[in-house]
Amino acid sequence: MNRFIEGETIYLRAIEITDASERYLSWLNDEEVTKGLASGVFPSTLEDLKKYIHSTTSTRNTVMFAVCDKQNDLHIGNIKLDNFDWVNRTCELGLLLGDRSYWGKGVGTQVVETTLRYAFQQLNIRKVLLAVYANNPAAIRLYEKIGFQKEGCLREQIFYKGEYIDKYFMGIFSNQFA
Ligand SMILES: CC(C)(COP(=O)(O)OP(=O)(O)OC[C@H]1O[C@@H](n2cnc3c(N)ncnc32)[C@H](O)[C@@H]1OP(=O)(O)O)[C@@H](O)C(=O)NCCC(=O)NCCS
Repeated sequence: MNRFIEGETIYLRAIEITDASERYLSWLNDEEVTKGLASGVFPSTLEDLKKYIHSTTSTRNTVMFAVCDKQNDLHIGNIKLDNFDWVNRTCELGLLLGDRSYWGKGVGTQVVETTLRYAFQQLNIRKVLLAVYANNPAAIRLYEKIGFQKEGCLREQIFYKGEYIDKYFMGIFSNQFA
């Protein structure tokens, strides 16, 4: 497989239309996976997935990686950088580990660290931003562990299962990342 960047146990490669599979689709229809994401409110089809992948690969304003297990090349999730601002040197990060058997083992941390290294060292980005919902403590912990700080909060912004949930914005500067 075409490895673009290597982490310790995972690697990142360009996502391709052929990654649109029943397996990937099952992640988007898994409530446990999507509860911290904007996707999942509406059901997804394979066709939606192909269109989405096409939209991310046809612009330089998004860099979308498939996250793969080094041992078996299994596609276990995606990470993307988008909304690049080349004047202020910022961009936004989005993470999805769809294969739940990989959760809780430090894989998410490894994937974000690998992607930040790429953003700061190869793309010359100064600051990476992200949005995270208050009902996603694992993601908040992961980001804080790496050095992201909360920068803002949209109070009761997200409707989830009969409740309104806060949406936080977090950011990290290149000089705060080891
Ligand atoms: C959120 C997600 C990326 C986490 O990935 P992961 O590989 O399990 O993360 P890691 O193991 O690297 O780190 C998670 C941390 O949160 C902690 N954690 C897990 N569940 C927790 C909880 N309910 N409350 C507090 N902390 C929790 C873990 O213990 C770990 O911290 P530690 O290293 O100090 O022990 C993954 O579950 C995922 O992709 N979920 C679906 C999509 C999503 O929510 N994406 C993020 C959108 S902002």
